[in-house]
Amino acid sequence: MSDNGIDVGLIKPILEEFRDQKGAVIPILQHTQELYGYLPEDAMQEISKRSGISISQLYGVATFYSQFNLEPRGKHIIQVCDGTACHVKGAPKLVAAVEDEFNLKAGGSDPEFEYTLEIVYCLGSCGLAPIALVDGQVYGNTTADSLVENIKEVEK
Ligand code: FES
Repeated sequence: MSDNGIDVGLIKPILEEFRDQKGAVIPILQHTQELYGYLPEDAMQEISKRSGISISQLYGVATFYSQFNLEPRGKHIIQVCDGTACHVKGAPKLVAAVEDEFNLKAGGSDPEFEYTLEIVYCLGSCGLAPIALVDGQVYGNTTADSLVENIKEVEK
């Protein structure tokens, strides 16, 4: 157990699995993220210590690929498109409504880590603007009120 309550011992089997594969940084980080839901600093230190991969290389990979998260994320992921078409059609109102309703800020999570709000830029379906995703489910032509309702529905 690390000082921050992370059981870093869980990383050992991952490193053993990829011991003979040179350059397996991405799968090691993927498996580690599956364990904790994100890549805690203590886990990164442990990987570096046990594998010999430098900490800067680990962070270089983790920050390059958007699939990796260095901060804990909420149970539900809300993504609002703020590309040009969605912006014009009211994306900022969607963002403001979600922030207000769920006590969080875009790019962050609520204190209980129930929800994380991410801003994305053009999902390639501008005809459905404004668009939001809730746990991967697409809501097109949405409004602030209906998006908030849809998010609450996910809980049920
Ligand atoms: S701008 Fe939102 S889908 Fe294109």
